[in-house]
Amino acid sequence: MDYKVWADEVWEKAVVKLRAEAERNTNAIPYVPGEDGMYTDMMKENPYWWTNGFWGGLMWLMYQGTKEEIFAQTARNSEELLDTALSTYDKLDHDVGFLWHITAGVNYRLNGSEKSKWRAMTAASTLASRFNENGRFIRAWNGDENQGWAIIDCMMNIPLLYWASREINDDRFKYIAMAHADSTMQNHVRPDGSVNHILVYDHINGGVIKSLGGQGYNENSAWSRGQAWGIYGFALSYIHTGKKEYLDTAKKIANFFIASVCDDYLPKSDLRAPQEPVIYDTTAGAIAACGMLEIANCLDENEGRIYKNAAVNMLMTMEEKFCDWDSDKDSILQMGSEAYHAKGNQQKAIIYGDYYFVEAIYKLKNLGPLFW
Ligand code: GLY
Repeated sequence: MDYKVWADEVWEKAVVKLRAEAERNTNAIPYVPGEDGMYTDMMKENPYWWTNGFWGGLMWLMYQGTKEEIFAQTARNSEELLDTALSTYDKLDHDVGFLWHITAGVNYRLNGSEKSKWRAMTAASTLASRFNENGRFIRAWNGDENQGWAIIDCMMNIPLLYWASREINDDRFKYIAMAHADSTMQNHVRPDGSVNHILVYDHINGGVIKSLGGQGYNENSAWSRGQAWGIYGFALSYIHTGKKEYLDTAKKIANFFIASVCDDYLPKSDLRAPQEPVIYDTTAGAIAACGMLEIANCLDENEGRIYKNAAVNMLMTMEEKFCDWDSDKDSILQMGSEAYHAKGNQQKAIIYGDYYFVEAIYKLKNLGPLFW
């Protein structure tokens, strides 16, 4: 089927299902569905959790494509709920981009809300403050034992800094983002295009001490969501800065990803895990597809085709095998994986899977501006 016809059909199904979900969850922050197939409210469990921005971001995507008020209202509600987290500096970490770039940041860019700009700038300042000057990286999580930890995921958070620099005409944020991206390009990305999840830097003198397997199979493997963060993150760094090496790096990681997926085009949770058991991570596929669509946009049509076709193949397979369109239940994209060795939230729907799957359809249909 022509991908445009397919994307139109999928979008219509998403509108119906997400309208029902928005009505049920207009004052909640979903993460994963419970046994009954309905979302539990992450605000009650952990207001600081790194995924708490995806629901609001998803609602803004839907609003852009429909102009239905239920989506905008739910997005605004979720942005206000997140203020609990924004007011506590000691619980925040590198994930502030996930939390506020696609909620408050998008609200400001789409609607000019000054309160939203304040939220997004506060988040950007927090992210910039995590920069380690000697190691030239943005610190990941908190805790005494991991002062030197940097993770590939952060490539998706630094677009908040590019935006902040432009917004207040102050290059400091961009310098930090580019220093981090340069270090990540040099140290996280291996020569074959696979990516380390966690690097431990010497936080006093700089330099890499070791790598850790993190959410992947082991320290030499290729955690597929980490690869996906790398693909999309480097594509975005190129879009925001024009530095060609970032696009080349995004392509290199994408090439490894495309070569390593299963016969049905979908990624396992780790692209270098043993053949069995097969643990899919559809969320990695959705994120990688978004990144590949952006890479394709940056290339001429002939070269871009490679990345666009790979993205469309993945998305179509995901839809055919793993999307649930029953509007009486929450969540769309099934078979996500929190981590290769995760005991809970394994082979189930996770909110960021839905977010990136819908964002990919939004891109295929050209429904509005880039959110990151
Ligand atoms: N912390 C981001 C992730 O689990 O992918």
